[in-house]
Amino acid sequence: MASQAKPDLSSAVPAHGARHVAIIMDGNGRWAKKRLLPRIAGHRAGVEAVRRVARAARELQLECLTLYAFSSENWKRPASEVADLMGLLRHFIQSDLDEFHANGVRLRIIGDYRALDPSLVSLIEDAMARTAANSGPIIAIALNYGAQDEMLRAARMLAARAAAGEIAAQDIGVADINAALDTADLPPLDLLIRTSGEQRLSNFMLWQAAYAELYFTDMLWPDFDAKALMKALDCFRSRDRRFGGR
Ligand code: IPE
Ligand code: IPE
Ligand code: MG
Repeated sequence: MASQAKPDLSSAVPAHGARHVAIIMDGNGRWAKKRLLPRIAGHRAGVEAVRRVARAARELQLECLTLYAFSSENWKRPASEVADLMGLLRHFIQSDLDEFHANGVRLRIIGDYRALDPSLVSLIEDAMARTAANSGPIIAIALNYGAQDEMLRAARMLAARAAAGEIAAQDIGVADINAALDTADLPPLDLLIRTSGEQRLSNFMLWQAAYAELYFTDMLWPDFDAKALMKALDCFRSRDRRFGGR
């Protein structure tokens, strides 16, 4: 990476206006296939892209970067690939937590991560606890995340509160649902990026994307970098967000 010219991100900081960017990091398998490599090589290269983009997000002063790393449907993949992905995740947290912490990053998880292997759960919880008091940007990783599952868990939580007499069903409002979602304390989603040319949300942030701007690129995730993020933010800046007004 030392050979790559480093774009000057500082000039873009005040201009882009995005607080929260989320990325569906897709195309690792196709990146590997193009190179006649095993899929894990694509996932490894995908981790490098995560590092680059997390650094860029900090330099671009995003408040929050949410990365879709493992969906609630990705369990359908062969056990060996699931194990590879979990191994990469474990290694990533172990190797990169110090850098995140030193840079004031708050690490967050969305999704039902408690269903993962117990040793991974405690690693994740330690990492979140260690960075919780930081004041820098939030890096939220979506793990065992599915928007339908997230909304289902929120509905059950609100139903339980209603059954306990804590709230009346007819008083449940949008703010209560926002507060019951995994993203409760994240800023509103501004820009949703998907790499690899697919134009679907694959069960990602369906509620939060209500008025997010969508950006699709053919670039495969392992090729994504600071320049690509800046290009997406430039595009975002040119959008006319009306939120139903005129
Ligand atoms: C994204 O890349 C990573 C995960 C979903 C974990 P893929 O593994 O989906 O790559 P493609 O879509 O097969 O190219
Ligand atoms: C979405 O990618 C999930 C992640 C990027 C973690 P997939 O590769 O699983 O999505 P589909 O199956 O093509 O919709
Ligand atoms: Mg895919």
